[in-house]
Amino acid sequence: MLKIVVMVSGGGTNLQAIIDGVKDGKITNTQIAGVISNNRNAYALKRAEENGIPSLCVSPKDYESREIFNEKLLEAVDGFEPDLIVLAGFLVVIPPEMTAKYKNRMINIHPSLIPSFCGKGFYGLKVHEAALERGVKVVGATVHFVDEGTDTGPIILQKAVEVQQGDTPEVLQRRVMEQAEWIILPRAIDLIANGKVRVEAHRTWIEE
Ligand code: GAR
Repeated sequence: MLKIVVMVSGGGTNLQAIIDGVKDGKITNTQIAGVISNNRNAYALKRAEENGIPSLCVSPKDYESREIFNEKLLEAVDGFEPDLIVLAGFLVVIPPEMTAKYKNRMINIHPSLIPSFCGKGFYGLKVHEAALERGVKVVGATVHFVDEGTDTGPIILQKAVEVQQGDTPEVLQRRVMEQAEWIILPRAIDLIANGKVRVEAHRTWIEE
């Protein structure tokens, strides 16, 4: 059984997709051990509570320095003894100690086809605003392992989504979630839980 910790900052629709995936059998061999948020008001925390999943908030606002916050965050994660950390809309820079400790055991969902529209400053709605400004016709989402860079780790799954004429960032964000994120994040967890993802150098190999 793969024990996962899901880290969130906001609405938690990706967390919901994971919860639903575990319930309806799309994600197998997996237990959601806990949910951690940096934001006390995140609706994601409500979703955890409603589903009986232990959750806690570790906010940078509660600590004197970033170093102390980083320590507390790692302590909170370690407390769940996870096999895999899932960053599901977690909009905080991951402490280097955590990326080192959980190398190839931490994944992230990013709302673009990496390497487009990713890296520093590209998160949430900003990604979709940038895609519309650039006028691309195809966007999508990526699940990748987290390394020391921002959105640079080995890619596990990607799914493309078409831009439609007249899209606003909000409309496009929703379509990318529905048609890509909520599908590939649960799928990636299921693949990992069943030992089907192998990382070699900077690439992954999936056994279907
Ligand atoms: C999602 O679109 C996720 O891909 C994005 O934040 C949103 C969270 O939504 N993550 C990033 O931008 C990470 N760089 P949710 O809270 O409803 O799952």
